[in-house]
Amino acid sequence: MSADSDTIARASALIADARDICVFSGAGMSAESGIPTFRDALTGLWAEHSPEDLATPEGWARDPDLVWGWYRDRADRLRTVTPNAGHRALADLHRNRAAVGGGVHIVTQNVDDLHERAGSTIVSHLHGDLTTPRCSGCGRRGSPTDMLTEPRPSCPLCGASLRPDVVWFGEMLPGDQWADAERAVDACDLMIVVGTSGVVHPAAMLPERAAHAGTPIVEVNPDPSAVTAIADVHVPGTAAAALPRIT
Ligand code: OAD
Repeated sequence: MSADSDTIARASALIADARDICVFSGAGMSAESGIPTFRDALTGLWAEHSPEDLATPEGWARDPDLVWGWYRDRADRLRTVTPNAGHRALADLHRNRAAVGGGVHIVTQNVDDLHERAGSTIVSHLHGDLTTPRCSGCGRRGSPTDMLTEPRPSCPLCGASLRPDVVWFGEMLPGDQWADAERAVDACDLMIVVGTSGVVHPAAMLPERAAHAGTPIVEVNPDPSAVTAIADVHVPGTAAAALPRIT
C-alpha cells in the first residue's frame, strides 16, 4: 500500500512544524535492510521460532547453547546488512533540526545498530543491544568479537557465561534506558512511530504517554497497528519509502 498525496502533505506539515521530534522505532524500521520483523505472519521471527525457547530466562536456563547460537547468528548476519533510506532520512532530519536548535531523539526497540550506522545518535535502546554481550554473572560488557564467538565464551573476571545483552520476556527494561526514553517523549513536540506493532509493553506505553500529553503522532507502517487509533496521521507505507517523502 502507498500513501496518497494528502496524507503525505499532512504528515510533512506536522514534521516541518516540529522542533524536537521523538522517533519510536520497531522491527519494521529495519525490515528493508533485510532483518526480519517478529510478528509478520509469514516472515516474522516468532512465526518460525518459539519466543519461550529463545527469548526468556527459562529458555536460557534450559539450553544456553541453543539460545547463544541463535543470537550469535543474528549478530553475524547484522554485520552483512546496511541502513536503509528510512534510517538515512531520520539522520538527515536530525541534522536539519539541529541547525535550528532542535533534534531528532530516537528511542528504539530494535537491538540492531542501523540507526547509529546511518549517523543518528540513539537516546535509548529499550530492548538492549545485539552487537555486544554481557556477563550473566557480574554484568560486565563483552566485546563485539565475543558476540560472534562459538562456543559461548565465559567472563574473564568471574567465569560465568556471557549472554546476549537483550531484554527477554519476563525481564525488566534497563532503568536508565527507560528514564531516557520517558524524558525524550516528554520533551518532544512531535512523535514519529515507525514499524512497530505496538503490542509489547512497557515500550508500547510511550506512544500512549505522548498522546495523553497532547503531542501529535505521525505513524509510518504499511499496515494498521495498535498505535494507529491514537496517531494523528497514519502514513500507510514502508520506512524506506515513506520516511524520505515526509521528512
Ligand atoms: P513486530 O514484528 O511486532 O511488528 C513489526 C511492525 O512493522 C508491524 O506492525 C508491521 O506491519 C511493520 N512493518 C513491516 N515491514 C515494515 C516496513 N518495511 N516499514 C515499516 N513498517 C513495517 O515488531 P516490534 O513491534 O518491533 O522484543 O516488536 C516489539 C518487540 O517484540 C521487539 O523489540 C522484540 C519482540 O519480541 C524483544 O526482543 C524484547
